[in-house]
Amino acid sequence: MTFRQFLSRLADLAVILLRDGAAYAVLIVRAVRGGVSVGSIARYVSCIALLMAAVLGLVDSVQRTLVNDKYLKRYFSYFDIPNGMYKGSLTVEKRDDNEYNVEFKDVSFRYPNAQAWALRHVNLKFRVGEKLAVVGMNGSGKTTFIKLLCRLYDPTEGVILLNGVDIRKYDYDEYMSLFSVVFQDVKLFAVSLGQNVAADTDFDRERVNACLARAGFERRESTLPKGLDTPLYKDYDKDGVEISGGEAQKIALARALYKDAPFIILDEPTAALDPVSEYEVYSHFNSIAGDKTAVYVSHRLASCRFCDKIAVFDAGRIVQTGRHEELLAAGGGKYCGLWNAQAQYFHAGKAPVTPCLYYAG
Ligand SMILES: Nc1ncnc2c1ncn2[C@@H]1O[C@H](COP(=O)(O)OP(=O)(O)OP(=O)(O)O)[C@@H](O)[C@H]1O
Ligand SMILES: [Mg+2]
Repeated sequence: MTFRQFLSRLADLAVILLRDGAAYAVLIVRAVRGGVSVGSIARYVSCIALLMAAVLGLVDSVQRTLVNDKYLKRYFSYFDIPNGMYKGSLTVEKRDDNEYNVEFKDVSFRYPNAQAWALRHVNLKFRVGEKLAVVGMNGSGKTTFIKLLCRLYDPTEGVILLNGVDIRKYDYDEYMSLFSVVFQDVKLFAVSLGQNVAADTDFDRERVNACLARAGFERRESTLPKGLDTPLYKDYDKDGVEISGGEAQKIALARALYKDAPFIILDEPTAALDPVSEYEVYSHFNSIAGDKTAVYVSHRLASCRFCDKIAVFDAGRIVQTGRHEELLAAGGGKYCGLWNAQAQYFHAGKAPVTPCLYYAG
């Protein structure tokens, strides 16, 4: 205890002594004068104790309110930001067979206050249960495409349809509940591991463990001191554990699996993973996605071979679609260029790789 804290404690004690002393002094004076019976004195003493406890509680609450006021202001000002998005009221049909079809119809998009188009004339349909890979150079519009699909933004032009209906017409929260997404810039909360996976304080521990295992976090979890109850980061708990970017990505993947929505969307889910973990995600991708409709954004073209359809983005446009083999067999084109760039990278030092024939041959 510092000297300053000692003085403050002493002042508190003096106030308590003065306050209680005054109350008891009044009582004693009245008792001596014979105005109060012995029974009443006992009653008054307990009343004074109760009153003081209540006053202390009130003072404590006022103090806390004053301290938390600035944090609450920030919290409420965030929630007061108006959401300008159109919110429809149509119920999203709950389908046991996951029969959901999505279509982008001539969709173009410009970010607010930006001059350039991030997406231009995008047309794409994907089938129920299909595994769609989205590839392309940095800045080609892959993440923007995902953001529009999840209604984080609405198209500037064109329309996105779910089962033939404009997605803006659906109830916003219900529509959101269709998607399990792992975004490129994964963010976790400084709460327990279990709460991070479930995004809830109340969760099914067995299911959380199963999802963490499927996401490849099982071994690391076994090293955590309190298992699922281990706090992440040290913001609120000095016993919290720091986790790496790759570990955060696995936890985010487990969170997406726990949500168990009909669509699973992974925006570069392996970018921060080590080669073994990356291989595990690729090789288990079909079991991870199960019968869900999956959209998979990746720079690792080898992983796209497992997908039913690949959409190749370039400067905000879809320039090619098809299966891996079809796109390579087409000879030339953006996909071939990207594939060869990666193939040559792995064959550095060996004979130059003939464009596209490398794979086909
Ligand atoms: N919030 C934003 N405001 C303005 N422009 C943005 C914003 N986010 C992205 N852009 C621009 O939109 C274009 C597409 O970006 P996007 O993030 O979709 O690319 P990407 O294909 O996902 O790239 P990467 O492979 O690097 O993840 C880029 O030119 C980018 O600069
Ligand atoms: Mg991106």
